[in-house]
Amino acid sequence: MINREIILVTGANSGIGKSTAIGLAQLGKTIIMVCRSQERGEIARKEIIFKSKNENIFLELCDLSSHSSILECTKRIRKKFGYLDVLINNAGAIFGQHELTEDGLEKTFGLNHMGYFLFTHYSLDLLKAGTTKRIINVASLAHKFVFNIPWSDLQLTSLKYKQLKSYSLSKLYNIYFTTILAQKLKADNITVNCLHPGIIYSGFGASGTNFFSALVKIGGPFLSSPTKGARTSIYLATSTDVNEESGCYFVRQKKAKTTIIARNMDNAKRLWDMTIELAGISEYGVVE
Ligand SMILES: NC(=O)c1ccc[n+]([C@@H]2O[C@H](COP(=O)([O-])OP(=O)(O)OC[C@H]3O[C@@H](n4cnc5c(N)ncnc54)[C@H](OP(=O)(O)O)[C@@H]3O)[C@@H](O)[C@H]2O)c1
Repeated sequence: MINREIILVTGANSGIGKSTAIGLAQLGKTIIMVCRSQERGEIARKEIIFKSKNENIFLELCDLSSHSSILECTKRIRKKFGYLDVLINNAGAIFGQHELTEDGLEKTFGLNHMGYFLFTHYSLDLLKAGTTKRIINVASLAHKFVFNIPWSDLQLTSLKYKQLKSYSLSKLYNIYFTTILAQKLKADNITVNCLHPGIIYSGFGASGTNFFSALVKIGGPFLSSPTKGARTSIYLATSTDVNEESGCYFVRQKKAKTTIIARNMDNAKRLWDMTIELAGISEYGVVE
């Protein structure tokens, strides 16, 4: 077993996730990259090793929109590493079309919300066995575009599907997830925080509509770099300033205010209960 701080980053082969992994590897951390493509993951792994001169970079494959894939991936990590110090739920996307995951969930909901929810569920015992005990969820200022939640249609049936609406909702759910989980894990001394990384030129938008991805490409040169986008994730993973912070939302390495709807605890609890039921989990964080 590797005797050092292990930080897991999902979506570490591209954009903010890759820059986060590079920055943390440069600080000497052991990195587990969780990616869905062996080829893209391996290319990024080599780049991270080259830029950080740190050989302790490991790749695990997972489709983060699939319950069974998350279960299998976390089983392998448990067997190989035995613990995790920090979990960074970063992988996310916007989808131009209404599509379903193999579990029958609308893809944005399935990846951006359920992916974070399930990966954390199956990793909690590993985090409890670690030392640093931090969970970081990459959310977005896009949560500010939500003014009401379609409770009776959380999966947004295809007729009502709009890419930005679905994406913004999923990023609001990241904030709800952070708030409730922070409360639940207080007694375990595990902190849970979320962040907006900035408006960053990355691979983001590629799975949006043609119009959206073209817009991102045109605007690209005016946006911030993934290196800048990684700063708050790295800060939350490593800084002693945030030892006691939990359940908070950060922008540019500072605590920031979310919207009134994002601070609504009844909504947060309602989403939690609905997600538990959808996922078929009997007790969160308890892996049979
Ligand atoms: N860019 C921004 O301006 C911005 C602003 C606010 C928040 N964010 C958030 O930042 C996070 C990172 O986004 P980014 O900008 O770095 O975008 P990105 O460059 O597209 O990176 C997204 C990562 O997620 C991975 N991913 C997507 N679907 C996956 C799946 N089913 N299973 C496993 N991995 C999957 C991608 O893998 P592949 O390469 O295989 O597709 C990629 O590694 C996201 O949560 C996003 O919502 C971004």
